[in-house]
Amino acid sequence: WAVHAEDVAAIRQLKRDRDAIILAHNYQTPEIYHGVADIVGDSLALAREAVTAKASVIVLAGVHFMAETAKILNPGRTVLIPDARAGCSLASSITAADVADLRARHPGVPVITYVNTSAEVKAASDICCTSGNALKIVESLGVPRVIMIPDGYLARNIAARTSVEIITWEGACEVHERFTPADIAEIRAGHPGVAVVAHPECPPEVVAVADFAGSTAEMIDFVARDRPKRVALITECSMSDNVAAGFPEISFVKPCNLCPHMKRITLPGIRHALETLTHEVTVPDAIAAGARRAVDRMLAVR
Ligand code: 13P
Ligand code: SF4
Repeated sequence: WAVHAEDVAAIRQLKRDRDAIILAHNYQTPEIYHGVADIVGDSLALAREAVTAKASVIVLAGVHFMAETAKILNPGRTVLIPDARAGCSLASSITAADVADLRARHPGVPVITYVNTSAEVKAASDICCTSGNALKIVESLGVPRVIMIPDGYLARNIAARTSVEIITWEGACEVHERFTPADIAEIRAGHPGVAVVAHPECPPEVVAVADFAGSTAEMIDFVARDRPKRVALITECSMSDNVAAGFPEISFVKPCNLCPHMKRITLPGIRHALETLTHEVTVPDAIAAGARRAVDRMLAVR
């Protein structure tokens, strides 16, 4: 912490000078999550917060699609991402042309798009979803078949919980796809009684052997509600570190795969972003309008 103190102090001052707030995803490192963030949360919470943010500048401590979503929802603000290269293997797995191909192959079937996508792909979609509301969104449409892109594992995990037929796309999160049922067996053998909580971007075989599956916010809710003595959060590395700070009585087993994109965001990077007002995220009006329609439609489903 001592090495970070100067950056933390500088960032807090810069936030006041720039009338800025920092929205941080749950996978950001603890010094960002606990040290400088104004709002922390899962993708859904960050989108909801972006809609109502009053500050002139929003710094998105997360990946590019999250910053784009914030800009789409609140175009009057300056939205900054500290490292413009912070991408996502899901977002890069599909293009708007791929969505057009899917529609041509499945005429009339609505397209539900995970928020982990570019603005162009959102604009080509009917409605968005996050891992926190995917089941609700699928069932809200009242149709027998949907196309759900781009995360094939998330789509199959949702398909297991609904009678709606789901047409999938073969994108995957490079972090969660690496977890295996053998990892879970090893955790259970080494930590008797452990509650295993998996993210639905994990393969269905992993979710099948977990005690609970949910978005990063739902993982935190599970820990807060069930208060297991021991818990393993099957997700990105920083998650357990961030959550553990609030539950000193719970022992966190820390299986961990690092997201290289999330880890591009650092305290010095955030400080530089606020000093120089870079890297500004913009979305062309025509694309932003279509993307906003799909995201707004998602936010209206409660
Ligand atoms: P949630 O925080 O919405 O669960 O998303 C997880 C993730 O991988 C975001 O990149
Ligand atoms: Fe994308 Fe996975 Fe990283 Fe989230 S954790 S940003 S889904 S690669």
